[in-house]
Amino acid sequence: MQHIIAPSILSADFGNLQRDLEMINQSEADWFHFDVMDGVFVPNISFGFPILKVVKKIAKKPIDVHLMIANADNYIQEFADAGADSITVHYEACAHLHRTIQVIKNAGCKASVALNPHTPVNLLQDIIGDLDMVLIMSVNPGFGGQKFIQNTYKKINDLKALIRGVNEDLIIEVDGGVGLDNIVPLSRAGVNAFVSGNSIFASENPTNTISEMKRFVGNQQSI
Ligand code: DX5
Ligand code: ZN
Repeated sequence: MQHIIAPSILSADFGNLQRDLEMINQSEADWFHFDVMDGVFVPNISFGFPILKVVKKIAKKPIDVHLMIANADNYIQEFADAGADSITVHYEACAHLHRTIQVIKNAGCKASVALNPHTPVNLLQDIIGDLDMVLIMSVNPGFGGQKFIQNTYKKINDLKALIRGVNEDLIIEVDGGVGLDNIVPLSRAGVNAFVSGNSIFASENPTNTISEMKRFVGNQQSI
């Protein structure tokens, strides 16, 4: 499976948002990662529909929307209409996850579930066949620039075991503390989609960092 690099807009310079979005367009990045935080499910507030519409106008690549919000069902259609290509909801925030996943698919988006660091992968056992992607959080959601949690590797292995023979095309995405220092071992472990905020936008040359990431994972085989 192809390796996807998804720069997180959360770490962009909002005073120069258009410039940073164009940078991603012109880079080797594959997706835009768009983090929505509500101050309820996570202890931070980010951005919502008006900014997504701006991103959609400029973006020439798919937009990967990560909803860190309560009551996601109420907003899915509006996120789809505003330009989301894939929508990730949190296992911990959805009481009726099966229904939520159908709502995402009916809205024409790829459906994905995120797991917080403390949430075991096997809780997805009865829904894994319905998903296009699983996002394993490698930090506690809410902020960019945090330290990668090592137990993520165990969870990637658990997820690989869960999808074997059931949904082997599922995309395994990791989000939080991902950079040039750990992208190769993550790729070897089986990750297909890499979200990266701070490691890209705080680097001297974000375009080059994205190219390096692409090159680092380019020749890795998942095991
Ligand atoms: C964290 C967000 C991430 C964040 C990643 O809650 O979901 O997408 O932007 O940023 P870094 O790569 O800086 O950890
Ligand atoms: Zn995210």
